Amino acid sequence: MLAVYAANGDAENPLAGLKVGQVPLPKVPEGWLRVKVEAATVNWHDVFTLKGIGHHSLTFPIVLGCEGVGTLEDGSRVILYPVMISPGYIGDETKDEKRNVFSELVDGTLAEYVAVPPANILPLPKEIDSVSGAVLGIAWLTAYRMLFTKSGLRPGQTMLVQGSSGGVTTALIQLGVAAGMRVWTTGRSAEKRKLAESLGAERTFEAGEKLPTLVDAVFDTSGTATWKHTVASVKTGGTIVVCGGHSGFELPTDAFRLLVDQLSIHGVYAGTLDEFRDLISFVAAKKIKPCVGNVLPLSEAVEAVKSIHEGRTQGKVVLTVGDVAV
Ligand SMILES: NC(=O)c1ccc[n+]([C@@H]2O[C@H](COP(=O)([O-])OP(=O)(O)OC[C@H]3O[C@@H](n4cnc5c(N)ncnc54)[C@H](OP(=O)(O)O)[C@@H]3O)[C@@H](O)[C@H]2O)c1
Repeated sequence: MLAVYAANGDAENPLAGLKVGQVPLPKVPEGWLRVKVEAATVNWHDVFTLKGIGHHSLTFPIVLGCEGVGTLEDGSRVILYPVMISPGYIGDETKDEKRNVFSELVDGTLAEYVAVPPANILPLPKEIDSVSGAVLGIAWLTAYRMLFTKSGLRPGQTMLVQGSSGGVTTALIQLGVAAGMRVWTTGRSAEKRKLAESLGAERTFEAGEKLPTLVDAVFDTSGTATWKHTVASVKTGGTIVVCGGHSGFELPTDAFRLLVDQLSIHGVYAGTLDEFRDLISFVAAKKIKPCVGNVLPLSEAVEAVKSIHEGRTQGKVVLTVGDVAV
């Protein structure tokens, strides 16, 4: 089958190990199911894998891709919950020490077929098309948990999203707007800021620009590059929610500001199965069309990964297998 895989990890030149080619069909462990993939996405997670960086130690080659939608053998349409947990584990899936997502310990979703534990397979509602469904597992689920579980924001409060055009950042904008938050964003170009405005952002700012007033919560997906501005932009008693660090994982913080102004900082890893169900329900009921900037066939995965690595995003990047309605 055709698959997009990392042949090896290279921190300096992550694209060197990126391959698109034929691999054997996935072995399906007893009790698991084989899903025929219709659409899957590229995330920064894939770039980290290509750099050799992972939450678990990586074994190469490994098929990339953490999320997606597809069909079972009986033709039913399904969406994949990305977090796999240890046998017998009960509780918040994101807190299982052995949790992993597709493309870490088992092959991922950027392929014609993927082997999936039954607990990670949910029906895809008819209101959600394949391309929209494909983006929900990682970027949108993480944004959902950041916003609704961790930030403590209420409708009418102001949130700043550090970035305007990424996967998680566009999800935060669209979810925040749909839930009645006042959404402000920073964006690294006028084009990116315009995208945020088209998604409903109330105000947009250049990267690092001083805000007219401090905000109730700041959402940071990029790490070192935006952190100083993140801490400077939140009001006393406010909240910072962090999910990523592709610009660097060092987050130097003035402890005096942290304690005097009683800031809360939360880290987020994906989301629980219950949050995933609620996200799907929210997107379907509110008729939200996730921002997808580029839909390419699986064979063009190199351009898809490059666009993320080079920061050329305009929303999510989706790869399709076969004929998929967009
Ligand atoms: N913890 C989790 O479970 C989880 C889940 C999903 C993602 N993540 C992490 O979240 C991060 C974003 O992932 P993604 O897939 O959404 O990536 P993406 O689509 O490439 O988006 C990157 C975002 O970072 C923003 N950014 C701001 N300053 C930046 C800078 N100096 N350099 C690079 N980017 C900058 C970009 O802003 P502009 O719009 O202005 O370009 C863009 O909105 C990654 O670090 C990823 O690993 C974590």
